[in-house]
Amino acid sequence: MGDQRSFQSLLVMLPLLMLLSKMSQLWAFPFSPSLDLDVMPRTTVFSKGMLGSIGFRGSSQNYSTLLLEEEAGLLYVGGRGALYALNTSNIATPANLTIDWDASPEQKKQCLNKGRNNQTECYNHIRFLQRYNETHLYVCGTNAFRPLCAYIDAEKFSFTSGFEEGRDRCPYDPAKGYTGLLIDGEMFTASQYEFRSSPDVRRNFPFPTLRTEEAPTRWLLEADFVGSVLLKESVNSSIGDDDKIYFFFTERSQEQIAYPSQTKVSRVARVCKTDWGGQRTLQRKWTTFLKARMMCSVPEYELHLNILRDVFVLQGRDAQSSIFYGVFGLEWKNIKASAICQYSFSDVHRVFEGPYMEVQDSKWREYTGKVPEPRPGSCITDLHRSQGINSSRDLPDNVLTFARRHPLMANQVHPKGMRPLMFKRSVNYVKIAVHKEPALDGNIYTVLFLGTDDGWLHRAVDIDGEMHIIEELQMFDKPQPIESMVISSVQRSIYVGSHSGLVQVPMSTCQRYTSCYDCLFARDPFCGWDGRVCVEISSRTQRANLTQDIMRGIRGCKENSGNVVHRRRSVMSGDDVLLQCELRSNLASPRWTLNGKELQGYGLNSGYRIGTDGLLIIGARTQQSGSYRCFAVENSVSILVYLYTVRVHTDPYFPVEPTATTNPTTVSSPTVFSSSSPTEQPLPSPPAPLPPGAEFQTYRHMEAVYISLVAVLGGLCLVLTVVLLYVSFCTRRAAHGRKFSQQGLQVLGGSERKRSSHFELKTISSHCNGRQCRQSISVPTFGDIGGFLQIVPGEGQMSPAKTPPLAPPLPMPPPLPNMDYANGLSATLPSVLRKMNGNSYMLLTQADPEGMSPLYHSFTEELNRILEKRKHTQLDVQPDESSI
Ligand SMILES: *[C@@H]1O[C@H](CO)[C@@H](O)[C@H](O)[C@H]1NC(C)=O
Ligand SMILES: *[C@@H]1O[C@H](CO)[C@@H](O)[C@H](O)[C@H]1NC(C)=O
Ligand SMILES: *[C@@H]1O[C@H](CO)[C@@H](O)[C@H](O)[C@H]1NC(C)=O
Ligand SMILES: *[C@@H]1O[C@H](CO)[C@@H](O)[C@H](O)[C@H]1NC(C)=O
Ligand SMILES: *[C@@H]1O[C@H](CO)[C@@H](O)[C@H](O)[C@H]1NC(C)=O
Repeated sequence: MGDQRSFQSLLVMLPLLMLLSKMSQLWAFPFSPSLDLDVMPRTTVFSKGMLGSIGFRGSSQNYSTLLLEEEAGLLYVGGRGALYALNTSNIATPANLTIDWDASPEQKKQCLNKGRNNQTECYNHIRFLQRYNETHLYVCGTNAFRPLCAYIDAEKFSFTSGFEEGRDRCPYDPAKGYTGLLIDGEMFTASQYEFRSSPDVRRNFPFPTLRTEEAPTRWLLEADFVGSVLLKESVNSSIGDDDKIYFFFTERSQEQIAYPSQTKVSRVARVCKTDWGGQRTLQRKWTTFLKARMMCSVPEYELHLNILRDVFVLQGRDAQSSIFYGVFGLEWKNIKASAICQYSFSDVHRVFEGPYMEVQDSKWREYTGKVPEPRPGSCITDLHRSQGINSSRDLPDNVLTFARRHPLMANQVHPKGMRPLMFKRSVNYVKIAVHKEPALDGNIYTVLFLGTDDGWLHRAVDIDGEMHIIEELQMFDKPQPIESMVISSVQRSIYVGSHSGLVQVPMSTCQRYTSCYDCLFARDPFCGWDGRVCVEISSRTQRANLTQDIMRGIRGCKENSGNVVHRRRSVMSGDDVLLQCELRSNLASPRWTLNGKELQGYGLNSGYRIGTDGLLIIGARTQQSGSYRCFAVENSVSILVYLYTVRVHTDPYFPVEPTATTNPTTVSSPTVFSSSSPTEQPLPSPPAPLPPGAEFQTYRHMEAVYISLVAVLGGLCLVLTVVLLYVSFCTRRAAHGRKFSQQGLQVLGGSERKRSSHFELKTISSHCNGRQCRQSISVPTFGDIGGFLQIVPGEGQMSPAKTPPLAPPLPMPPPLPNMDYANGLSATLPSVLRKMNGNSYMLLTQADPEGMSPLYHSFTEELNRILEKRKHTQLDVQPDESSI
């Protein structure tokens, strides 16, 4: 018995350990070249800073079903208990039409009696909403676990007749995977309709209805559907081919797969549109159902992303040139990771023309025997018609018997380039929409709109096979998954639905870029610089004077337009001074000069610390007075953003000058240098170029070592957790085991940026040489941080700092001897010390924009105390080592 138990526990642990080794690989080598796949959004826009976004919030929730009709200018929305017809030019206009359609109180009561949740499930969730004919829409709702469907007169926006039984057309459960199409009056759907029923792909009408087969071979196993599409392959077909419908889903794998930690596979399946089922064999069943496995793996990490979350089909000029994008995730829900893979339908086609799989000795193997004619699973073509086979009912029995037992193809569908277009850790993409945009360089760029499970939208552009995330936009204040998304090319808007509402945002917001370089660095195919402002290039007919450089994001700007902030600081000698320099771009790194000379040696003894948010002068000395310039370095171009005039006084009774002047015009034309344009005026003392410094490399190397260490420790924790779990598993009831181990794993996945948590992790470094200290990886903080961790309790608030580059002017200084304002610490701390690299110390601060809370003083004192202590204890040379 005991032996059996330990064997069982081994079985439980094995897949976890294998996954763990994968994950630690993933987290231990974040600096390999392939990391290019994991790109950081260039800018972060919080919901407060969104421009031109329009919100719609009806009486209902769960805005999960969208139907866009561009010509009519209407967006039909299906929510919970209601339908809306919204004006696409402005979804919030009061003229919008509504149909209230909720389940009856009796039905809700029955639903509750069935053990369902009357807070979320026992409502009429609209799941299907499509055009039926010229005058009518067709709609289905869950109706508190008793689905109904109905016709809607589109013009009046009201029901025409009574309701139809929806049991075979719409799932009972509002959260169940579901997809469907209404084509030429024929309805095709795929779901697991009822709780106990098997998943099914159906033609619901007209008669005869068709289904998938369950015996002797199950065609679908716990399938979770995410999408479907019609490809009109009959159009201009030389062989008289049929139109086909493709379904996308994840299911439990039947075949042997090489990764024991995974139990699921992603699939694409297809049926022919004019399938009528078989005459004797496969009566009322599809005769053309075929499915194949879709792969999306990161080869470097041997990581197979097997859960398909969403697909978007980009229709080509003809069916064969159409491509589709899949969003994939991992089976372990608590580990955030996403990959985008791109496939071509011609590859899918090839796989469906290839060898079949077959069950032999209860295992799936490739079938190598003779395949009957006409080829099982193929549509009826002219060739068949010439043989007297006019429909699927004329197919010979041996063909149908073969089709019944061979739904699965042996080959897999691989993505273009055999790798993901994009791989992202600590983000769960759940929705995708794709748009093609012509740029000034004559190329047409693919722009991906990616919705996350916490309410963000990423805009990414495919530049020669490499993804660049232009920006991340916070669509909803409250973190919640993006449930639906649709693009209008006519309105140049994107509509995003979630639990709480619907938001319309412009496809691009070029005016957010305030300088030529900002506009250029964004590499946004929609935007160009016209000499004064950044504009949507589509808004201009005269485009000769517009500047854009998608390929490199460097060429075209002559001068910085002058968004330079000038500030004066007067401080007491011995004080710590923070010169704030917030960089708008997450891809930029800071560079500092003092009186035109590059600030060298940021070691602890140099008296300077640099972070991506500012420069800290520790114990200011009089010789540190002077003119400090902060440059944002991006794409090897330095842009002056801040200019500080610092005076260090020894006399404690000097008169205090006004501290802040924010006046771009008083700054003499800012100096910009670019490695690519030698014509530009160099700095008084030309700074060193930006070499990939050796120090930097070792720093990165060390960081990698630490991360692996952390991963190994995490692994040990996990193993312990699993053992503990097993013990508790044996003593208590079973169900909790899996949940527990997933929590253990979550520690590994915890490198997510702390957007929404109540406090923010902030670090400062003396190791970041101002050259390329970008993309810090916040190490999961479950180790000992060496006593430099401080937690300031309280409700946190995100620093709003990412949006406007100009910090608000400082308040007038209070009378002496309070020096806190002069050194800039108390007034700026809430928004600074963000994402600074390294581990010299970490601060968990609360943000309080009022800046007058007594906590600030204690915080300043605390900071000073820490700095003081550091100076004396000489924790220099390798502060990183002391911090783990
Ligand atoms: C949508 O609103 C615009 C402007 O308010 C109006 O011109 C247009 O007719 C409206 N469209 C529909 C379909 O109501
Ligand atoms: C849900 O059911 C409970 C009783 O089980 C009842 O008290 C509550 O009011 C119901 N809520 C709604 C929204 O119907
Ligand atoms: C569309 O379908 C509805 C419902 O079946 C029907 O009443 C209506 O006449 C149809 N309209 C047209 C133009 O065929
Ligand atoms: C509907 O929204 C609520 C939150 O408002 C959420 O808890 C629930 O899961 C959503 N239901 C579905 C089916 O998405
Ligand atoms: C198929 O259709 C052709 C012409 O429409 C007809 O002559 C032939 O008899 C049909 N074959 C069968 C098997 O129904």
